[in-house]
Amino acid sequence: MTAHDTPAASVLETIGETPLVELDAAPQSVPVYAKVETFNPGGSVKDRIGKHILQRLLERGEVSSGGTVVEPTAGNTGIGMAIAARQLDLQPVFVVPDGFSEEKERLMAALGAEVVNVSGEAGMSGATNRAREIAAQREDAVVPQQFATPLNAEAHYETTGQEILDALGEEIGAVVAGVGSGGTLMGIARAVSERVPGVRVVAVEPEGSTFGTLLGEAREEADYKTEGIGTHDPDVAELLDPDAIDEIVAVSDREAHAELNRLAAEEGHLVGSSAGAASVAARETAERIAEGDLDAPAETVVTVFPDSGERYLSKNIYGSFEAWEGKA
Ligand SMILES: Cc1ncc(COP(=O)(O)O)c(C=O)c1O
Repeated sequence: MTAHDTPAASVLETIGETPLVELDAAPQSVPVYAKVETFNPGGSVKDRIGKHILQRLLERGEVSSGGTVVEPTAGNTGIGMAIAARQLDLQPVFVVPDGFSEEKERLMAALGAEVVNVSGEAGMSGATNRAREIAAQREDAVVPQQFATPLNAEAHYETTGQEILDALGEEIGAVVAGVGSGGTLMGIARAVSERVPGVRVVAVEPEGSTFGTLLGEAREEADYKTEGIGTHDPDVAELLDPDAIDEIVAVSDREAHAELNRLAAEEGHLVGSSAGAASVAARETAERIAEGDLDAPAETVVTVFPDSGERYLSKNIYGSFEAWEGKA
């Protein structure tokens, strides 16, 4: 989005400065605001890290102009990184486990990336191993590794978090966000807690994911449909610092799906399932603050809508839960 009153020199300048929109379905005394990341040129929050990570790696000389960037990704990071890579004269190669949305792969290819598939069973760790193999075979190749590089959370510390502070000042009681790599939540939480000590930090995962075990909570591992957040191997998300998180909320696929459909029909937000899950958890957090069940330094909750529902039309995201689940 960014400023529309001056011409932008490149698409990279249009990343970030997304709108912060108040949700209708929240308690009146505790408003919930969502950072709507669909306004980025690649349609997701991951445009931010694509730009930030690649600019820093080039500055540090970890890769040079004309080199290759190889990244394991379920999709949105590939799209964001492809946009930045091509503008910064890098060749993007993405390793994608089977089973994620087809739209994302098509968009990565349209943006000039090479897409390599690995079996869905191998998961993100299988994709990471394959990315390292590919990088080792090429000259001047780098694997940024969004799950491990501090540059991921730094992108959100410097941009998403600061934008939220610019919009709300110190009136922030809780930050609620879905966690995949954890970069979004960690970066925003660090920025906000520097200005608002004691801000409540809530991570969101799908039911069936096991991030909750990091805080000693019982979790039953199971498959889930919600895309972009959650894990079956919490140790992969090296950026996620359990000490910086107050609570990890599990949201069922059914609740996330109902909420993303409600957000579309009632509030005009076309957002994906991870946004549905974040919205459920953000509204619950606001209700608990409103009822006095939760201590928070201010009566306001902030969340993030990471991507668009249009990205999942082939997966029947709009309509019955059974059709999305693949059981209709
Ligand atoms: C749709 C979607 N939502 C949420 C996330 C989670 O963001 P993060 O990796 O910063 O935790 C991702 C990450 O890939 C995503 O693709």
